[in-house]
Amino acid sequence: MTRLIIAVDGPAAAGKGTLAKALAASLNLPYLDTGLLYRAVARQMLLKNLDPVTESGEEAARNLQPQDLLRQDLRVPEIDRAASTVATQPLVRTALLQRQRDFAAATGGVVDGRDIGTVVFPQADVKLFVTASARTRALRRHYQLHGDATLSDVALQRLIEEIEARDQKDASRAVSPLRRAEDAILLETDDLDAGAVLQKALSIVRNR
Ligand code: CDP
Ligand code: CDP
Repeated sequence: MTRLIIAVDGPAAAGKGTLAKALAASLNLPYLDTGLLYRAVARQMLLKNLDPVTESGEEAARNLQPQDLLRQDLRVPEIDRAASTVATQPLVRTALLQRQRDFAAATGGVVDGRDIGTVVFPQADVKLFVTASARTRALRRHYQLHGDATLSDVALQRLIEEIEARDQKDASRAVSPLRRAEDAILLETDDLDAGAVLQKALSIVRNR
């Protein structure tokens, strides 16, 4: 078995996790959602009343325990915001870097995030950059969290603005910003369901 490393990056709610998980299952590789690391650090800080804008998250990042990543309450708007704030801190990113590299060093893996193809695994065997319009992504996140529940135009607009604000924060930070690696293959998914995205990605992996 080769130690294949596949990097899946892209903006919020583009379908990175869905694709990375399905690819990992198809290729019999471990899967790592690196967003959970930043979310778990943010949650630890909020629990201690530490403001991620003004206080360091380094200690929380160093002390992260595996069970911190398994919580069901990491995907809430408060943690979306706090995670993308704490993710701007260089010391937090450094503290989490080796953990991400160690994860895939022995076995390979499919790893999703923002800087996997650019910083964490610049030598990844395959790099995918998954994206879709902010509107599509807002609708996906709404459906993912609330199923068919109605969404007013005002609520959709707010969701689009939240997603765009987080993209802006992720793409404009000084350290490891969200950007497509030069050698990453772009997957525009507005008109593709998750199954179609998986098929495209699998053919990219097979043809690498
Ligand atoms: O990990 P990321 O935030 O990029 O997105 P996700 O949690 O994998 O996907 C967000 C939602 O979009 C999920 O409910 C997926 O089922 C859905 N979706 C998708 O992942 N890919 C598509 N092409 C279409 C929808
Ligand atoms: O699932 P979604 O795309 O909404 O977010 P996520 O992947 O769970 O990431 C949450 C936040 O963590 C992002 O907005 C980024 O600020 C940060 N993050 C990062 O900076 N680098 C990564 N490799 C993964 C996430």
